[in-house]
Amino acid sequence: MEKMILNGEMKDRSEIRIDIEDRGYQFGDGVYEVIRIYNGLLFAGDMHIKRLFQSAELISISIPYTQEELMEQLKRLVKTNDLQSGIIYLQYTRGVSPRSHAFPFHQVEPVYVAYTKEMPAAKGEKAAVRAVTAEDIRWLRCNIKSLNLLGNILAKEEAVKAGCEEAIQHRGDIVTEGSSSNVFIAANGAIKTHPANNLILNGITRQVVLQLCGKLEIPVQEEAFTMEELLKADEVFYTSTGVEVTGISEVDGKIIGNGQTGPLTQKLQQAFCQEIERQCGRI
Ligand code: PDD
Repeated sequence: MEKMILNGEMKDRSEIRIDIEDRGYQFGDGVYEVIRIYNGLLFAGDMHIKRLFQSAELISISIPYTQEELMEQLKRLVKTNDLQSGIIYLQYTRGVSPRSHAFPFHQVEPVYVAYTKEMPAAKGEKAAVRAVTAEDIRWLRCNIKSLNLLGNILAKEEAVKAGCEEAIQHRGDIVTEGSSSNVFIAANGAIKTHPANNLILNGITRQVVLQLCGKLEIPVQEEAFTMEELLKADEVFYTSTGVEVTGISEVDGKIIGNGQTGPLTQKLQQAFCQEIERQCGRI
């Protein structure tokens, strides 16, 4: 039986009860992370844990462990579940308290849950996918990896309804990010992606890709780009823990480049695979 963590203790799923007055359940008052596992090892684990602590701090949830302690617990969970390829999902909510919008008057313990899920590692090159665009209707603190995902969910549903994989969000004319990913364009040999400010989540995959661009000497601008630049780009790709680096072949029915994963995207896919190998071994 697969184990999960509830507040630092390893338990069977059947033993876990979540209170209906958990503020995560009622308000989405919490933060989360999704970490990829390759060969039983956490990919960019330190970066994910650091972002979890940053998100928690930004909404005044205090995590009662050090980053090292939390990391040890997650490694133990992966080992106990004998997970080779998959993800860890973990979330922290503000805790259980009688429903009231204000923070609980008395100090409450945050509620922390973590579990693993199998997911095969994508071996070889992934086919490019289709995307739609959707107005970004989310709040102005998208840098926090909050449990509140309604805006993201509604955007993703637009993609699903159009038979596409992802919705590329935009605030007016400016492209921000995908519903659950970061978006990049390539034009004239250089790459652009929205700067890591309050309008996007600074994806861990995004950060790794930017480092790889540096190593490969691919020029990158962390600069806002327009819908017109998106549609006219030579290449468009998106990144996340789940999709890694994946090309986008079509946006709102308009073919990008030659409708296949472009050369810069391929180069970054290969470099990303090598980075996985460096951290977790051959997949
Ligand atoms: N989502 N932007 C948003 C809005 C996201 O939800 C995600 C990831 C990303 C990419 O972040 P990273 O590279 O750290 O995975 C960007 C996760 C995977 C999810 O909600 O399942």
